[in-house]
Amino acid sequence: MSFLVDKQTLLKYDVPGPRYTSYPTAPQWSAEVDADVYAQRLRQFGQNGRTLSLYIHIPFCEQLCYFCACNKVIRPREEKIGDEYIGFLAKEIELAAKAIGRSKTVKQLHWGGGTPTYLNEEQTRHLFKHITDSFEVDFDGEIAIEIDPRTAAYHKLKVLRELGFNRVSMGVQDFDARVQEDINRVQPFVQVKEVNEWCRELKFKSVNFDLIYGLPYQTTETFGHTVDQVVSLRPDRIALYSFAYVPWLSKPQNKFNLDAVPLHDEKLEIFIRSRDQLISAGYQPIAMDHFALKTDDMARAFNEGTLHRNFMGYTLKPADEFMGLGVSAIGFLENTYAQNVKVLPEYYERLKAGLLPVERGKILTDDDRLRQWVINRLMCAFAVDKREFFGQFGLGFDGYFAEEAEHIRQCMEDGLIEAGQHRIIVTESGKIFIRNVCMGFDWYLRQKQGHKRFSKTV
Ligand SMILES: C[S@@+](CC[C@H](N)C(=O)[O-])C[C@H]1O[C@@H](n2cnc3c(N)ncnc32)[C@H](O)[C@@H]1O
Ligand code: SF4
Repeated sequence: MSFLVDKQTLLKYDVPGPRYTSYPTAPQWSAEVDADVYAQRLRQFGQNGRTLSLYIHIPFCEQLCYFCACNKVIRPREEKIGDEYIGFLAKEIELAAKAIGRSKTVKQLHWGGGTPTYLNEEQTRHLFKHITDSFEVDFDGEIAIEIDPRTAAYHKLKVLRELGFNRVSMGVQDFDARVQEDINRVQPFVQVKEVNEWCRELKFKSVNFDLIYGLPYQTTETFGHTVDQVVSLRPDRIALYSFAYVPWLSKPQNKFNLDAVPLHDEKLEIFIRSRDQLISAGYQPIAMDHFALKTDDMARAFNEGTLHRNFMGYTLKPADEFMGLGVSAIGFLENTYAQNVKVLPEYYERLKAGLLPVERGKILTDDDRLRQWVINRLMCAFAVDKREFFGQFGLGFDGYFAEEAEHIRQCMEDGLIEAGQHRIIVTESGKIFIRNVCMGFDWYLRQKQGHKRFSKTV
């Protein structure tokens, strides 16, 4: 095999673990954060000059992809579904803006889902207006939307561009016909090619493709062909996600023939081969699972050490605080995670009653903040600078993390990190197991709280 890990190490580390889009991770969140606590955080935010990154969740998709682990609601296309949702979303926007009490600058706006292009043009315009009525959107900032190539018609993309969207991200997953059929997402290459060409013609600043490795019936050969086809379209960014197999959360994954799902070394080899292919094609590997052309802002952020990670995955961090609006949306504001209710009828009920629809969250302790910082550095920069840690928190790294010394030693012994007096640096093989390196700094995991609920790290 072409990679840098022996099978024993692979099997040792291929265990369930978080993807660390937050720390503390979701199993630690509770009802300690409710509508009142969140409203108080919003008021606090209203009293300072901090800026905002705003995430808007549109949950609807017309058809179910069997692999999908996102928070989505499958509905055939119907105008009234989108109208109703936007009506309630507008109420939430209004409630949140009222609690903040003054117009805040939005440096980054992201519409995700589900599938935001489920909305028709008129609905898209309405929703955008609700946002700009309550917030000051910086049109030089990142204004991004997730699109499904199967529902992204040219006229829809044109409206998005006119409104000010400057980045698109589309689900591609895999081009192989057998794989597409098995995951219930038939989407031929020519369709993606056409949507990509429209995005270029309309001058979107950056186009991202999502790919998934580890899907049923994928082999190094078939996926290698997919990557060749992807590269021929030259997206600015590529997210190469490891298939999160979580059938207890996402029941349709039970439809998969497990014998056809590549696991362990087979799955890892698909990743390593496609990574090599992308590098040869001029893409820079960015942190755990992204690739970008050197001209893209994400490559610049990674090289400058300013890359960030949150629920959207890897992202630039142009704003101070992060707010999520819409059913199941997550925010992180004033050191507090907050998630909205996940079920649509309940989301509507709360808003009908004039309540912020927050269901759960986590107020960070001092220890959470330190560990969040360390995990973020590892996930985003593959390194931790102990002097920087001291500068941030006024504490010596080695003293504070004395209990983690054994984990650090183990990772060194297995060749995952190099640890010196001032820095911990993740090695090439450590990059593959970065989630495992982080897990040793996760206080809650060490207490064995909730670790069975995650996908496997490879
Ligand atoms: C909200 S979707 C993207 C927009 C749109 N709904 C689409 O599919 O084209 C977000 C992305 O999450 C990724 N994803 C969903 N379920 C996943 C899973 N179980 N494992 C890994 N990645 C997954 C897919 O790559 C998908 O494109
Ligand atoms: S991958 Fe995208 S389109 Fe498919 S079900 Fe998930 S959110 Fe919907």
